[in-house]
Parts: sequence; structure tokens; C-alpha cells
Amino acid sequence: MSSAPKKRYRVRRSGPLIGSVRVPGDKSIGHRSLIFAALGRGVSRITGLSEGLDNAATRQAFRSMGVAIESSDAATSVHGVGLRGLRMPTDVVDCGNSGTTMRLLAGLLSGQRFGTRMTGDDSLTRRPMGRVIKPLRARGAHIAGTAGDKPDEVYPPISIAPLVEGEALRGLEYSMPIASAQVKSALLLSGLYASGPTAIEEPVLSRDHTERMMLALGVPLQTAGASVVLDPNDDWARGWEPFEWRVPGDPSSAAFPLLAAAMIPGSRVSVQDVCVNPTRTGLFDWLRLLGVNISLRPSGHGAGDEPMAEIDVRHGTVRGSVAGGELIVRMIDEIPAVCALAAVSTGRTEIRDAAELRVKESDRIATMAQVLDAFGVPCEELPDGLIITGGAPLRGAEIESRGDHRIAMAATLLGLLAEGESLIDGAEAVDTSFPGFVGLLRSLGADISEETL
Ligand code: S3P
Repeated sequence: MSSAPKKRYRVRRSGPLIGSVRVPGDKSIGHRSLIFAALGRGVSRITGLSEGLDNAATRQAFRSMGVAIESSDAATSVHGVGLRGLRMPTDVVDCGNSGTTMRLLAGLLSGQRFGTRMTGDDSLTRRPMGRVIKPLRARGAHIAGTAGDKPDEVYPPISIAPLVEGEALRGLEYSMPIASAQVKSALLLSGLYASGPTAIEEPVLSRDHTERMMLALGVPLQTAGASVVLDPNDDWARGWEPFEWRVPGDPSSAAFPLLAAAMIPGSRVSVQDVCVNPTRTGLFDWLRLLGVNISLRPSGHGAGDEPMAEIDVRHGTVRGSVAGGELIVRMIDEIPAVCALAAVSTGRTEIRDAAELRVKESDRIATMAQVLDAFGVPCEELPDGLIITGGAPLRGAEIESRGDHRIAMAATLLGLLAEGESLIDGAEAVDTSFPGFVGLLRSLGADISEETL
């Protein structure tokens, strides 16, 4: 996965973007659909699954554990093996760039009677894993990470030793220090194998796809606000039947064409069947506050009861504002795109309470500050966010993605408004979440081309 050919985008100032498009399936829902299908008792059918490399990493991990998975243009069929049917992987599990694959599987594989080792690419091996390893160990998992940059943190590769015959994970009561759907989901997945209840409380409710899917599959789960309890009591048949799910469009990918429309005069873009689960709609709620012309029209439901909508955005004047607190949790992956919008907004945009951005696919606070600076946008880096002053003329720039898909796409948005040509190097990173990004922007009228180096 790390040996993909290098790509570069050439981006030029563009006229209005106009049209109606679909984006790849939601990455978070895709990972979880594969996991629950693999653990079901029979063949599940998933449509709309992203062909991005992150979901492919999860697919490959299950193949290596004996789950047959067939993909056609129409659907992905997963031959579920039941909760106890996974086999020891044939090799080290390579999670590529995907933190969600590694953290969710850390939980799931902690409950097995076989051992596993997981690793990833350069970016993933620098990401903290203590947040998931610590609570898993507290419930009896034999899991360890590798020492790295910070003395009190552990990183991939991760090793998990098997539970021996008669040994089980224990119940867990855990108050999470930071809101994280990856940690919450890892603990819930390990909870499927525990002898007692798993009770988790988050400071703010993070994306709740795992809970929605578990409820849809009859897992004994209860939720109240930012608390969730999974109690695998004796009534539960410890498993579920196969299902047919459709993965809704990814709001984190839809953000790019929609914000391009908000930024470029004369534009109007709509994206169909986007996931509008309220734990994911922080960006759309915030855009309304900023005066952006945005409308949402409900378009049914997808996997595990996920609401979908057609989202339409038209260009208009956008005000700068302050974003912090719970809103940040609901738009954490969209902040690189928001930084690009801030560059053309009137006045100052402040992003606070977003220190988590420093441990994403890159340090997104530092990287976005450098990207904005290269385009000539005044910007101040804070420990937990950024202050961006909009309205300065943008000049073309050459940007390196640092292996981070959302940095490459946010820089592309700035390039569409900048004077002259911009070059986005390391653009192959975009394939982790948004294969077809360039083609989609071109279909809307953007002046962008892609070179394989
Ligand atoms: C994700 C959770 C979020 C998000 C990531 C996907 C998930 O990370 O940023 O892109 O699918 O659970 P955290 O759990 O670290 O907040």
C-alpha cells in the first residue's frame, strides 16, 4: 500500500463549478459494515462501499483471517464466519494509512484465541495507540504497542497475544479522556467477547455508527447521550444474521466539492445521498451560521439506520467565525477544508479545541498553517487550532501533502482560487478516501489535471 506510484495535481484558477455528483461511500461506515458482515452468520451484501485504500485495508485484513470477500461493480459480498470463526492471520496485518482499521481491529482481535501483529505505513506508525491499548489492557487483553517519539506513548506495530482456553476479557467501566469513535468502537467490539458489561462515557458524543449498527443487528446495547452500555447477557444469542446494507456518501469527502462551490463565484453544486448522521454534520450546521447558501433534502436511510440527504451549496459571501467545543468533534475531519474556506471568508476564522488534529494522518494544525502561508493567507498557529484572516489575494503554490489525503484536497481548493498554477505533490494520498477526486472536480468544471510521476 505504501508503494503506490507518486501523483501530482496541477490546479489552475477556475470558473464556476456547476453540477450534481456522488462521492465515494463513507469511510467510517465502510469499515464497520465490513467488520459486522465478517462476523455475521452467512453472506452479507454491501453496496456503495468506497474503493479507497483505507476500506481496502480492512477488507484485506479480514481476507487474511479466512473471510471470503467478493467484489463486483454492484456490491461486495462478505461470507461472514460468526463471532468465533476468524482464523489467525496468515501474516502481519498491514493497515496501510488507516488508523480506523488498526484501532477497531485492536479491540476485535483482543478477544480472540489467536495472536496478531498489526502495522501500517510511515504516517500510521507515528500515530498514538496508547488510547486504545490502555483500556483494552484494563479488561485483560494481552496487547502491546511499540516505543516511539514520546516516552509515555506507544505506537504501531501492535502485538496481541491470544486469550488462553478458559480466559475471557472482563467487563469494563471507562470514562474516556477525549471523545474518539475509534476508541469507543474498539472497546465495544472487544465487549462482544467480554464476560461482563462494557460501559463507556465520552466527554462529547463522537460519531455513533458502531452503536447504530449494533442496535440494528440486535446486540444488547443501550445509549443515552454520550454514554453507551453493551451487556452481553445470557438472553443474547451471541451473533447476528447476514444483512444487506448500503453505505451512504461520505460527508467528509462531500465537503470538498461543496466548499469549492461556496468559495468560487457563480458556483452551485449538489451531492447526492450523503450521510447526515447528526454526529457528522458539524460542518453543515456551521456553514449555515456563516451565512452559506446550503440546503439539505432527506433522501432515505443507509447501513444501520444512517440518514442520508442531498446537499446543495451555492456561492455567496461567507463570514469568518469561531468554532470550538462539541462542534469540533462533529466536524473534526472537515477542518482542513474549513481552513481553505476561511481563506476567502470575510474577517477572521478561529478554530479552537482541536488539538486532536495534531495526531491525525499528519499534524493538521502545523501542516495547514504551512499550506495557508504558502498560498499567502495570514494565519496564526495555536496549540489547539488556528486563526485565519480571510480576503488576501491567493498566490499559486507548490504543496507537499505529507501523506495526508485531506491536506492534498484542501490545498486543491485553495489552488482553484489562486492566481497562476498550483502544484500538489504527494496527491496519491487522496486515494485513501476519495478515488476519483480529480475526475469529479473536472466534471464540475474545475481546471485540474493529474500526473503520475
Ligand atoms: C473515525 C473517527 C475519528 C475520525 C476518523 C474516523 C472512525 O477519529 O477522525 O477519521 O471511523 O471512527 P477519532 O476516533 O480519533 O476521533
